[in-house]
Amino acid sequence: SSQPASGRTKVVVTRDLGPDVMPLLQERSELDLVVWPENRACDRGWLLEHIPGAGGVLLMLSDKVNEELLDKAGPSLKVVSTMSVGYEHVDLALLAKRNVRLGYTPDVLTDAVADISVMLAFMASRNAKGTTSLVSRGDWPNATWSPFAFCGPQLSLASSPSQTRTLTAGFLGFGRIAQATLRRLLPFGFTHALYSSNPSSTPSPSQDSAYTKDFHPIQSVRRVDYDTLAKESDVVFVLAPGGEKTYHLVNEGFLRKMKKTAVLVNTARGTLVDSDALAKALREGWIWAAGLDVVEGEPNVTPDHPLVKEPRCVVLPHIGSATFETRLGMATCAARNLLGGVLGEGMQAELDL
Ligand code: DGY
Repeated sequence: SSQPASGRTKVVVTRDLGPDVMPLLQERSELDLVVWPENRACDRGWLLEHIPGAGGVLLMLSDKVNEELLDKAGPSLKVVSTMSVGYEHVDLALLAKRNVRLGYTPDVLTDAVADISVMLAFMASRNAKGTTSLVSRGDWPNATWSPFAFCGPQLSLASSPSQTRTLTAGFLGFGRIAQATLRRLLPFGFTHALYSSNPSSTPSPSQDSAYTKDFHPIQSVRRVDYDTLAKESDVVFVLAPGGEKTYHLVNEGFLRKMKKTAVLVNTARGTLVDSDALAKALREGWIWAAGLDVVEGEPNVTPDHPLVKEPRCVVLPHIGSATFETRLGMATCAARNLLGGVLGEGMQAELDL
């Protein structure tokens, strides 16, 4: 049971959360705190060994929450608290069936991930990868300034009234992070925004006009189908949740419809983008460039990965939320969720299962 002879409730934590957050848990005398002691992803074997009888577990997106884990935990388990906003690694239906609550960390990371989404769009469009590696290799002396070298498409528009060009941002998924990303693009002069959300929900023109007002001075925000989004966007931001429903949403068909000058940014989950199709799209010039913070199969992404080898594909190792402020916010939220769940109280952020 979760109440050993000591009367304390065992909680398992799969990563040290640092000196600012661990005390929130260490100071609770009613908890028997078991923490993965190493500074690397928690071993599955260690987790399975320590989870039996736990009342709660705080874990990372690298820790799968599946039948195996829940069976090992047994009926004492009341809460899973993940230090992430994403929950692709969690079997939600199974948690619901077993009455286990799920805590996650929305909101606190919205700004950091929106920042890096914009950063990746510009890095990709402006050849940041090829050019910084040229400098690192010592090749700058052979690459003197020349009129059209290293050019890329411009992701901004002059705000002159005579401007006739348009600039369209497309969003696969239009939740908190996507909206924060669009807000950041307004000063760059984007004129239109398109979004696709869950195809099973009904389109709502009134929602679109509310968004259009909200994102002034953009001329229109419209919900469209995937084809239109692919065809009309100058930059496509992938910002929908991972999981079966969004698996390979960006596939060969989607990429072939995109503009040759368009940029694809994925700061959501690797599974939304078909890596082989994207590598082909970049190699054959169907699109201009890509900026990825997540890749299918991560962290097993090696230098010979087709996307890593593409000169116009900027790849970051899933650091979208990695600011001191945000990670502190996420860790604090995850610790509070764990406490709330174990003590049967409210959580800072609980997913409705
Ligand atoms: C999340 O929270 O889901 C991100 O992917 C990691 O910051």
